[in-house]
Amino acid sequence: MARRVALVTGITGQDGAYLARLLLERGYEVVGGVRRSSTHNDWRLRELGIAHRVRLVQMELSEFSNVFYVVRDTRPAAVFNLAAQSFVAASFRQPLYTASVDALGVTRLLEAVRIVDPEIRFYQASSSEMFGKVRETPQSETTPFHPRSPYGVSKLYAHWTSVNYRESYAIHASSGILFNHESPLRGREFVTRKISSHIAMFRHGLIDTLRLGNLEARRDWGHAADYVAGMLAMIEAADPGDYVLATGRSHSVREFAELAARAADLDLVWEGEGVEERGRDRETGRVVVEIDADFYRPAEVDMLRGDAAKARRDLHWEPAIAFEALVEEMVKTDLDRLDRNQPLL
Ligand SMILES: NC(=O)c1ccc[n+]([C@@H]2O[C@H](COP(=O)([O-])OP(=O)(O)OC[C@H]3O[C@@H](n4cnc5c(N)ncnc54)[C@H](OP(=O)(O)O)[C@@H]3O)[C@@H](O)[C@H]2O)c1
Repeated sequence: MARRVALVTGITGQDGAYLARLLLERGYEVVGGVRRSSTHNDWRLRELGIAHRVRLVQMELSEFSNVFYVVRDTRPAAVFNLAAQSFVAASFRQPLYTASVDALGVTRLLEAVRIVDPEIRFYQASSSEMFGKVRETPQSETTPFHPRSPYGVSKLYAHWTSVNYRESYAIHASSGILFNHESPLRGREFVTRKISSHIAMFRHGLIDTLRLGNLEARRDWGHAADYVAGMLAMIEAADPGDYVLATGRSHSVREFAELAARAADLDLVWEGEGVEERGRDRETGRVVVEIDADFYRPAEVDMLRGDAAKARRDLHWEPAIAFEALVEEMVKTDLDRLDRNQPLL
């Protein structure tokens, strides 16, 4: 690629921040799309120490002219489309908005790419939530889709749109079907960061209990820093394609909570069943975890575990950070933030 400008939508999110850091390390000039907000929201870029090295432009994915002019004026070599209403639970409450941004937003962006310069490479942030009610385990690029939320349905539209622009216009468009990936930069509404931040706050005496939904839901959790390397590998590959990125191992929310508690020197013992279940600290007997039925999803995705053999073979991609290390890093970082009187964002 001759020009080395990378345009990253959703740069203020978890993946956007890690990807921007990686792109800068690899010599790209990074332009980040941000939606207008009354408050500046670059804490992740600041935490990684790269806020001053990226150029931010206003880019609202629901607005075609805005998307078009940004692509035309920045003339990137590659567009990484990470922007999304990314929270599954919120998509049940805001299905139309989710569809506009997560589904149609991709058509807006790909239309802009097609009109401005079909040589621009494109990465679409697809999701394991597209598998939903899973037809086989583990899930790979050939597993049939059955999304179980407005988020999953919107991401599936976006996935097929990316495939369609590749096949119709020969655009180098890749779809990364990513299984859950977390980090200390994860948003606090997501269950992993909710657990790490609440356990840290519990340890600091700032809250009484952590309220969780379905403890048996199983996910294939990796570290975001590993996954952004897979995104770049897709963009830099000679040919575009669809790739699952996953660790191949799944863990339950219960296991995540137990490990997180341990990282804060708490030892959870469980008692009761269903919504009556509780997790107490063995030493003090204090209730650390309670169940709240409000956090159950209308339609649950019980078990996600990915098969990333194609990415290993074609992209030489391999996740390096183990689940246990991920959980520990998340809890220790939140404890450290509180030790330094930093707000948990
Ligand atoms: N993390 C995962 O486990 C995972 C797995 C599979 C797929 N994905 C997908 O990968 C992408 C990145 O995930 P993430 O974890 O980094 O998500 P995230 O932290 O929620 O970041 C989402 C980003 O999208 C931006 N955004 C939201 N609505 C927008 C709009 N209308 N116009 C422009 N920008 C908008 C957000 O801006 P604000 O900062 O202003 O909110 C934020 O920068 C998302 O598309 C997500 O759905 C994530």
